[in-house]
Amino acid sequence: MPSVKRVREDHEDEVDSNIFGGHESARSQLTEPLVYQGTLDRFKHQDLTPAIGREYEGLQVTDLLKWGDEMIRDLAVTISERGVVFLRDQDVTPTQMKDLMLRITELSGSPSSSGLHVHPLTEEGSELGDQISVISSSKQAKGGGLTHQQSDASRLASAGWHTDISFEPVPSDYAMLKIHTLPPTGGDTLWASGYEIYNRLSPAMQEFLQTLTATHDASFFHDEARRLGNPIRSGIRGNPLNQGTTLKATHPVVRTNPVTHKKSLYVNKAFTKRLHPLSFDESSLLLPYLTSLVPNSHDAHVRFKWRANDLAIWDNRCTWHCATYDYGGEARTGDRVCSLGEAPFLRRGE
Ligand code: SIN
Repeated sequence: MPSVKRVREDHEDEVDSNIFGGHESARSQLTEPLVYQGTLDRFKHQDLTPAIGREYEGLQVTDLLKWGDEMIRDLAVTISERGVVFLRDQDVTPTQMKDLMLRITELSGSPSSSGLHVHPLTEEGSELGDQISVISSSKQAKGGGLTHQQSDASRLASAGWHTDISFEPVPSDYAMLKIHTLPPTGGDTLWASGYEIYNRLSPAMQEFLQTLTATHDASFFHDEARRLGNPIRSGIRGNPLNQGTTLKATHPVVRTNPVTHKKSLYVNKAFTKRLHPLSFDESSLLLPYLTSLVPNSHDAHVRFKWRANDLAIWDNRCTWHCATYDYGGEARTGDRVCSLGEAPFLRRGE
């Protein structure tokens, strides 16, 4: 589709002073936004809130895998525009989820160095393979997940807002979750739009934030690994830049999504620890304000009530999400796949 996508050519590798951040070996292959071609219009769909979320009925992953690149690229554009897309009632295996995830990320220009992520807490030799994370209420009860159930930390539901794996030098572009076992009620997931929250900031604040970077740190996973009894996965986790046990990275505070060329605020309560080059005190004041915008802006949210075998696919570059642990001892289980995109960058002046 050369008319909607330009792939970087060799002579374009010179440093562009308008681009802030973005490790060279993990650059997006897109130089222009992707344009939606209309191939999904015939499926019944509705936008769930003005800011974020679209739900489709009758669109099956297994059909998408057969129908070809144009529809999958349109799906990628829709996810990046709407933040999260829900496909109801999917008859799909974990292997088919991985196949679709790879096609979405490749067709939307992710660098060739990026593949599917291996989460640092994924058990070696796990039943569904390294690239599937099993999301389960029983793991949560043992102290897994972002609410740190067994440590001295916040019990507020809002403590769980995050964007996936932002502690990796090359974090996630897209992620996919299918929930197959549900409690009778509860267990909803919320998403918030990073475009919307960024766009509501004053121009002066937007401009200032564009000069900052932030450290994202998941060192607390070391405690979690001990509790769960799994060593941290220190080999390559989906991109050669993601390896070792440090679990820290520095990224621009405002990030351009290469699929839409829209800007999003890219800090999150779970992993972002420090703003640079601000002083410690300045960072300690500003960062909580920025992360508070996410739970405080419920008009930039969508709250999804799962039915068995629904699938959500979201763009981690421009959304946050938060699970709801309100279902006591009931079982809730699903499978998650996460693809890696580009190293985060900011295209200034657009
Ligand atoms: C996640 O944070 O990826 C899982 C969300 C959920 O379990 O609802």
